Amino acid sequence: MVDNRAGAARITEADVAILGLGLMGRSIAAAHLRAGRSLTVWNRTPGRAGDLITQGARVAPSAAAAVTASQGPVIVCLTDHEAVRSVLGPLGRTLAGRTVVNLTSSTSGQARELAAWTAGHGAAYLDGAVIAVPRSMGGPDAVLLHSGDEKAFQQHLPVLRDLGTCVHIGSDPGLAALHDAALLTLMWGVLNSFLHGAALVGTAQVPAADFAVLANRWISSLTEFVTAYAEQIDTRAPVAKDASLDTHAAAMDHLLQESETAGVDVSLPRLFRTTLDQALADGRGGDSYAALIDQFRPRPRR
Ligand SMILES: NC(=O)c1ccc[n+]([C@@H]2O[C@H](COP(=O)([O-])OP(=O)(O)OC[C@H]3O[C@@H](n4cnc5c(N)ncnc54)[C@H](OP(=O)(O)O)[C@@H]3O)[C@@H](O)[C@H]2O)c1
Repeated sequence: MVDNRAGAARITEADVAILGLGLMGRSIAAAHLRAGRSLTVWNRTPGRAGDLITQGARVAPSAAAAVTASQGPVIVCLTDHEAVRSVLGPLGRTLAGRTVVNLTSSTSGQARELAAWTAGHGAAYLDGAVIAVPRSMGGPDAVLLHSGDEKAFQQHLPVLRDLGTCVHIGSDPGLAALHDAALLTLMWGVLNSFLHGAALVGTAQVPAADFAVLANRWISSLTEFVTAYAEQIDTRAPVAKDASLDTHAAAMDHLLQESETAGVDVSLPRLFRTTLDQALADGRGGDSYAALIDQFRPRPRR
């Protein structure tokens, strides 16, 4: 993994092509313009460049024209993989010798497929997962996970860094998308649990804002569990140093009972308990919470 937050890399390229001017594409373009790049942009529906033009962006009449008018990376930010294939497909050898930086959300399989397709057309491929919202692009909070051709990553890093903190997480082009999915499950897990908790305390007229203060403190404390459990998972030694699964089972029963009594939806606590029950049935009540990883890992296909 290469983390390039530190150190000023030499600026080697000025001309960037951007295909796609939706909410994210426009923010990407604006961040590059703020960094002093020369941009050629294209969007399927004309008229979306708006302020980018007054800030210096050139608008190309086609995706092919945008690619040929520039020399630097070709940044693609469209709705989905199908849109990317439909835009890049007709370009073919126009991409030869260039680097496609695909910041469109996709699956790891789609990223690998696109990497193979671009290689077949003589282009380098870098996949990118944008862990940010449009308004934070170009700021310190925007994180971009890249995977794929590391040489291309190093070559274009001065440009890529206009958008935020860029991390290269491996040469397998699917890794950025895989991490994106893993971070999304974390986000939705935390957010759904916050909503469940807010609904629970809301039955006693506690404002969500009051609960949020405690919730945020608790979320910060949980980072210690994450670090400790990661080590236990990697070393396959889920020794209970804080609480055993048996102890968690009792606490989960309280949560279920409290939710049922309050009339709050019980699907989330039931999911927790079902996952735990499977581990208890395997005789793992004395293990640490990290032992539940086995309930999530892929099971052998029959
Ligand atoms: N917005 C966010 O907060 C955020 C955060 C992280 C990642 N992302 C990812 O960034 C990507 C773009 O998101 P967005 O928010 O910019 O979406 P958006 O505002 O809906 O823009 C979608 C863009 O894709 C273009 N497009 C869609 N289908 C096309 C096709 N078949 N051919 C050519 N162009 C096509 C649209 O062109 P038209 O203008 O012609 O429709 C538009 O430029 C997505 O993969 C998204 O998951 C977004």
